Amino acid sequence: QTDGQIEYEIRAQNGETEIVPGRKTPSRGYNGELLGPTIKLKKDQQVKLHTGNDMDEVTTYHWHGLIVDEASDGGPHMTIEPDETKTIDFNVDNEAATLWYHPHPHGSTSKQVYEGLAGMVIIEDENTKRLEKHLPHEYGVDDIPVVVQDRFLVDGYKLNYDEVRSIDGTGGDTLLLNGTANATFDAKGRYLRMRLLNGSNVTNFEFSLENNATFYQIGTDGGLLNYPIELKHLFLSAGERAEIIVDLEAFKEEEVKLFVNGITGLTIRRGENKNNADFNPIMSLRTEMLPVIQPHEVAGYPTKLMLMAGTDYRVSINGKKYDPDRIDTTQPLGEYQVWEIVNAKDEMENLIHPYHVHGVQFRILDRDGKIPPRNEQGWKDTVLVNPGETVHVLLKFTKPGKFMYHCHILEHEEHGMMGHVEIS
Ligand code: C2O
Ligand code: CU
Ligand code: CU
Repeated sequence: QTDGQIEYEIRAQNGETEIVPGRKTPSRGYNGELLGPTIKLKKDQQVKLHTGNDMDEVTTYHWHGLIVDEASDGGPHMTIEPDETKTIDFNVDNEAATLWYHPHPHGSTSKQVYEGLAGMVIIEDENTKRLEKHLPHEYGVDDIPVVVQDRFLVDGYKLNYDEVRSIDGTGGDTLLLNGTANATFDAKGRYLRMRLLNGSNVTNFEFSLENNATFYQIGTDGGLLNYPIELKHLFLSAGERAEIIVDLEAFKEEEVKLFVNGITGLTIRRGENKNNADFNPIMSLRTEMLPVIQPHEVAGYPTKLMLMAGTDYRVSINGKKYDPDRIDTTQPLGEYQVWEIVNAKDEMENLIHPYHVHGVQFRILDRDGKIPPRNEQGWKDTVLVNPGETVHVLLKFTKPGKFMYHCHILEHEEHGMMGHVEIS
């Protein structure tokens, strides 16, 4: 393997794991018992992935956030049968970012993800190199993946989707970080970088630190922000990611707690204080800054409506349910369009829908006419849409083919809150 080329083999498997120590539960994983290996790629790299299926049911490999063409995107059409292996090739067009991968077979995405199939993809580029002195970047040491999910453990220890399935999204009473309840991490050095992924089927997670301490968000779904954004709370809906930096020296305690929805998600034990990064909260993170897009700049752009409505089995987009054989809308390759994403308020229900588009990274123009908060001004592939809210996003596809857009509440997606855009 050279720097320019990389090859991986990855296989979806049925497994067995102990989420509760001493009690084995059936599970699923990639190359293992639960979740999957983090795949590290570099911008412009040629990638060859052998994707296999050792399970007894159909799956697909979807690369959430990756800018690839239809054949590599792994939507519901790109099925891999039991015992089958498919090889995909692509060039890494994304900039430095935290992406992820998960199955997407129509009708069983929610089950396969819930039972353990998900992994992270980390992309590095020239900014990663340029920022080496400033940002923690040693994987597993001061730069850690944090896959956050919630699960109901049947009988207190078992993963069994069919027993706990819920029509508006299956949550849980047990918080898992990287598949572990009551997770702990031994930190070294002053700054800790966490790559947060909301990998739940439905649950929105609010992150905060002990003592309501400040942290810095440096990245969104698809790349680095212009500058670190100081936060005390960070809200991610299903499918969204964020990279944050925590200054462990700001704490007096030996143990620092990361809270998720008010309960302890991760206990960070502080280690010896070798100063591993010279993080500066006002430094610029990008060589090419992302401008705030003014309304007049997009005034003439074609606009399309994406109306998300309904709950449970009645969910739809623009009044329609997913049809694998229907193209719902088209967009010319390389052309900018504004998508008007609306969360129609149902009579009774007030649900957040996380709206996701495959094969592209977009920018949020406004939320109900107001420019988005600074930590949403970076590249996004999933956007939280509040009940009754209208969000405009600007997107341009650079790969041809048929791509999905859908609500990332996985059960809504299964129930048809999904459509196709064809790019040509
Ligand atoms: Cu992560 Cu089609 O989704
Ligand atoms: Cu996706
Ligand atoms: Cu939804």
